[in-house]
Amino acid sequence: MEARTPMINADQTQFNPATDLSWSVMPAKRTHTCGDLRASDTGNEVVLHGWVHRRRDHGGVIFIDLRDRYGLTQVTFDPNRNPDGHSSAEGLRNEYVICVQGTVAGRPSGTTNPNLATGDIEVIATTVTLLNAAKTPPFYINDDASVDEGLRMKFRYLDLRRTAMRDAVSLRHRVIKRMRDVLDRQGFLEIETPILTASTPEGARDFLVPARLHPGEFYALPQAPQQFKQLLMVGGMDRYFQVARCFRDEDTRSDRQPEFTQLDLEMAFVDETDVTGTIEALLIECIEAYTSKRILSKPFPRISYVDAMSRYGCDRPDLRFGLELTDLTSLLGTSGFSVFRGAVETGGIIKGLVVPGCAAWSRREIDGLTELARTFGARGLATAAWLPDGIRSAFRQHVGDEVMAGLCGALGAQEGDLILIVADREATTNTVLHRLRDHLGAKLGLADPNVLALCWVVDFPLLEHDESRGAWTFTHNPFCAPKDSDIHLLDTNPGEASSKQYDIICNGFEIGGGSVRIHTRALQERIFHLMGYSAEQIQALFGTMLDAFEYGAPPHGGIALGLDRIIAILCGVSTIRDAIAFPKNQVARDLLMGAPSQVTATQLEELSVRVALPPASV
Ligand code: AMO
Repeated sequence: MEARTPMINADQTQFNPATDLSWSVMPAKRTHTCGDLRASDTGNEVVLHGWVHRRRDHGGVIFIDLRDRYGLTQVTFDPNRNPDGHSSAEGLRNEYVICVQGTVAGRPSGTTNPNLATGDIEVIATTVTLLNAAKTPPFYINDDASVDEGLRMKFRYLDLRRTAMRDAVSLRHRVIKRMRDVLDRQGFLEIETPILTASTPEGARDFLVPARLHPGEFYALPQAPQQFKQLLMVGGMDRYFQVARCFRDEDTRSDRQPEFTQLDLEMAFVDETDVTGTIEALLIECIEAYTSKRILSKPFPRISYVDAMSRYGCDRPDLRFGLELTDLTSLLGTSGFSVFRGAVETGGIIKGLVVPGCAAWSRREIDGLTELARTFGARGLATAAWLPDGIRSAFRQHVGDEVMAGLCGALGAQEGDLILIVADREATTNTVLHRLRDHLGAKLGLADPNVLALCWVVDFPLLEHDESRGAWTFTHNPFCAPKDSDIHLLDTNPGEASSKQYDIICNGFEIGGGSVRIHTRALQERIFHLMGYSAEQIQALFGTMLDAFEYGAPPHGGIALGLDRIIAILCGVSTIRDAIAFPKNQVARDLLMGAPSQVTATQLEELSVRVALPPASV
């Protein structure tokens, strides 16, 4: 199709995108993208399509930075060489969609741009065709300034044009493609599993879908394809994977979405190391192929759950920095300081950490830290600063110099260091110190953003006691196998049994988890009984899987990686919302499409559903 030139006049009244249907006519076909052209193309006639990223008027010559997904190309309109084209360019505004025909020329010396792949050349325009006009966007597309997230989500199609989102979406594609290729090479089959399935108690709350054809019955959206992938192993598929969408009706956080994506896989005839080895090699290949970030240690270290809780106060430690916790319960629990003694007498523990070189922090800074500890659930924070003239601490006089010296020895503190101590219930102490540790790691610049500290956390307890139900509950999912050596504990002391669960952690985020599974009916039923299910409940909720186990289920295990979290970490963004093309906001709303939304009375009637809002929300 012959390009029409000039389509644009300086007189803006000629534009009427709403009525001028001729604008939908296709212009000349593009010969290159906006990221393609180099000095070697000089002299060639080219056709580029794209968006007006920026327009600069330099004493008569107009420069347009033309943008598409692949890059930016400078297009030049010289009034002396091409008066028609120049007057067309005067009418261009940011985000107009145009077609440019022209000739590639080397940029005059001194005007090249080494930061741009196309920075050695420009296109001297001969014609410009308007493909579509654009209203002024609600935020700048052409700079990286921070924009209100709600606005970005409402206009996600504009936000996607910005560099950060474009890069995240591209990286996501590349990483997932590589994962597929790696697994394909290793004989894995990609198999889709249903989105409309049955509700089972697997940890989170289900999203339910009313079944029109079966009034009063519901499908559930899968929290994960857990049972299907195990059934695929029973079905002899041997090695399965899926880029699987999962749905969990739980509170949204910076690293949690109600709908998210897993790289889900399952393997037959394997033990823990077969699965963790497969994932480790896969992650290393993807990270090294597509990022310049450095992996701190290979192979990834393995830390037991007990060790992680003791040294870091959490089961997803950020290993980029030290600041490890030390248990001070026996040292301080009998000391003269009532806060310490009281905590231990009521069954709590005392732990501390050393912040190197921060003894000279001001009163205000330390008060700020105490306040932060309170927001994490602490009743208070005991501090001691080792200054050149001695240790300054409110509790020093209560515990005495000997205990104080013992404390510094136990913590490995030195002159110049600040000591932080929490005495509380075990869970609170660990949570508070873990969160303070993460805060300090960031504040002191210890958490290097260019480093990826990956590790496996293993030897989790299989079960924990659910006081509210008076029964045992699973720590990960009900299908996880106990360690062979611990099976006998199920009869005597279930809480002591360790599982074949493994979680993979990167920079303090859980990026995946899986296990070797139970594959016999007897053991699976035993676990469900411990969880307080009756035989009827077990058959109703998990009957399919238990029945399948009776037809030659192979030993098997698997894992699921949280792809959104992995992409967010690789991109260096602080929320998975920035790694997802169309995310939900913090209260699980889709601001772009306006979901969730009310539906018509007819739709509800067809589904046999009646809405009964609690009085406050009417
Ligand atoms: P799990 O529940 O640990 O395991 O999930 C695996 C990984 O998925 C990611 N993830 C999430 N990402 C974003 N938003 C969420 N709401 C969310 N929930 C979880 C995390 C997590 O490590 N079926 C088992 C896997 C298995 O045993 O094979 C499962 O789903 O990165």
